[in-house]
Amino acid sequence: MKKINLDFLENQKDNNLPFVAVTAYDFTSASIVDGAGIPILLVGDSAAMVMFGYDSTIPITMDEMLFVVSSVTRGTKHSLVIADMPFLSYQQSIEAAIINAGRFIKSAGAHCVKLEGGKEMCPQIKGICNSGIPVIGHIGLTPQSLHKLSGYKVQGKSEVSAKKLYHDALAVEKAGASAIVLEGIPEELARFITEKVNIPTIGIGAGRYCDGQIQVFHDLLGLYDAFSPKHAIKYVELKKTIHNALIAYKNDVELKKFPDKNHSSHIDIEVIKNIE
Ligand code: KIV
Repeated sequence: MKKINLDFLENQKDNNLPFVAVTAYDFTSASIVDGAGIPILLVGDSAAMVMFGYDSTIPITMDEMLFVVSSVTRGTKHSLVIADMPFLSYQQSIEAAIINAGRFIKSAGAHCVKLEGGKEMCPQIKGICNSGIPVIGHIGLTPQSLHKLSGYKVQGKSEVSAKKLYHDALAVEKAGASAIVLEGIPEELARFITEKVNIPTIGIGAGRYCDGQIQVFHDLLGLYDAFSPKHAIKYVELKKTIHNALIAYKNDVELKKFPDKNHSSHIDIEVIKNIE
């Protein structure tokens, strides 16, 4: 397996080859995702919910994200690692955006950063790119704007909002983004944007026609059931499997079946007799 870089994304788009991305939040899950040959690994701020138990992505801090990103990069050999910039780590100023993006690259080992927003975030995208850090844009249903959007609602359904998202995509591309996540928009709009921009689009809840698709690790594997978005697909019910495995362990200990002779180490019983 070779190391993935941004050329990979460009090449997939140029050759009309779909690609996949998955989120990861710790060393073990990152090494599983990486070992499965998934080319793109996003350390999403969805860590706020699935790792830290917050009820949205809003509370997660830079320090919490740095901790998570570092453990993911230690578990990654081949995949491209994107670090998600948390709420208010880039919105205040270009300077703050560059400093915080730099921390993900310099001290946590990520390869690029992702931030939410369209035209209004282009100065930040430009500033980070000019510092030599690749940026992935993110438009549509942007969870950090949860309150502004009045909830997790599909965006771009009216002519006005579809037009705004199209212009946001063009602006994000012009500002220098290497790819753009399209979240929670109608697939017809996602298709139109994908055909109009030269950078790859990565869809989540944006239908069939994006260049690539991204899903949350815990959704794909049935690990998180507090909320299940319409677009998510479960390939396995790991929460149930883990639950049953833990009950089996508990029963074995309570019934004195575990540990058995084979899971124990031994010395000659004569040694024990002599220690009294
Ligand atoms: O935080 C996240 O997990 C995301 C995506 C799924 C795109 O931003």
